[in-house]
Amino acid sequence: MRIFSGIRPTGDLHLGNYLGAIKQWIPLQQINECVFCIVDLHAITTPYDPKKLQKNILETTAIYLAAGINPEKSIIFVQSQIKEHAELAWLLETITPMGELKRMTQFKEKSEQHKDYINAGLLNYPVLMAADVLLYKGEAVPVGKDQEQHIELMRSLAKKFNQKFGQTFKEPESLILKEGSKIMSLTDPKKKMSKSDEPKSCIFLFDAPEDITKKIMSATTDSGKDIKYNITKKSGISNLLTIYSLLSGKTTQELEKEFKGKNYGEFKKSLAEVVVNYLEPFRRKQKELASREAYIQEILKKGQDRAQIIAKATMQEVKEKMGLV
Ligand code: AMP
Ligand code: TRP
Repeated sequence: MRIFSGIRPTGDLHLGNYLGAIKQWIPLQQINECVFCIVDLHAITTPYDPKKLQKNILETTAIYLAAGINPEKSIIFVQSQIKEHAELAWLLETITPMGELKRMTQFKEKSEQHKDYINAGLLNYPVLMAADVLLYKGEAVPVGKDQEQHIELMRSLAKKFNQKFGQTFKEPESLILKEGSKIMSLTDPKKKMSKSDEPKSCIFLFDAPEDITKKIMSATTDSGKDIKYNITKKSGISNLLTIYSLLSGKTTQELEKEFKGKNYGEFKKSLAEVVVNYLEPFRRKQKELASREAYIQEILKKGQDRAQIIAKATMQEVKEKMGLV
């Protein structure tokens, strides 16, 4: 199968991005052809600093590598380096109903968050995302739960294109994990962990050990004192148990047993240790980054060359079908 996924290079990827998306990319590489993109054209639809964008792209690439993406197997590249993404997005826009874009949850949320930055790019964001995947004839898209609606639109655009212009695209399916697809905020476990929230609600992959410990120790927990998984009554502890389980490989039941009779403080202390140790390679890669920029640039260039071949072929086919050549 051809797999496609991407993350915006916004400079501060967090545990939610990792557990919901990146972590599931790693095993997929074994038997699939994977394309992992750094979607800078999406990153510029919300306020950003142009001076920091290149650094953020390198950092995001370093995270992909630290997580275990193998650049010899998988294609890693930067979206804006392949012009066909924007070109296909334009063509797909001509078959996208405006109403559907306006109804997208992410568009509504981001418009609410950045009231003075509601641009047409933000509205058309899901069409560019559809172009990303369809350009490579992607068949499956591993993402967190918040992207499900965008993938639904992608499927309907693929179907519509095929009906109008002849069979071209498969309808990509979303790969959403049962656990980890929605990691919640540490300060408000009813909301998803998000970088646009206050920093202590979020564990960033490059956070210093003492910050990780502080954030976990002060995470909102629930009334009562048992370490028990119960998403409705104990959303705080349940979120921490999910994180613990995904990073340690132990099931939540095993953890409940292990922490029977222990208090929240003891549990959090142990979780902080697990998180600090797990994220050690990420901190190391970030430090190495300065000296390895040339190496990372080389990986991105190789990825670009490989991606370009596929993108060009699809674009030629699409243009022919649409009567543009
Ligand atoms: P973004 O930072 O919005 O580009 O998201 C990158 C990836 O992380 C997407 O696949 C999202 O669905 C996923 N993601 C973002 N926040 C969370 C979260 N709190 N829990 C799980 N997955 C998430
Ligand atoms: N919209 C995704 C997000 O916010 C990022 C993204 C862009 C993406 N293009 C994609 C994800 C293509 C999967 C496939 O997380």
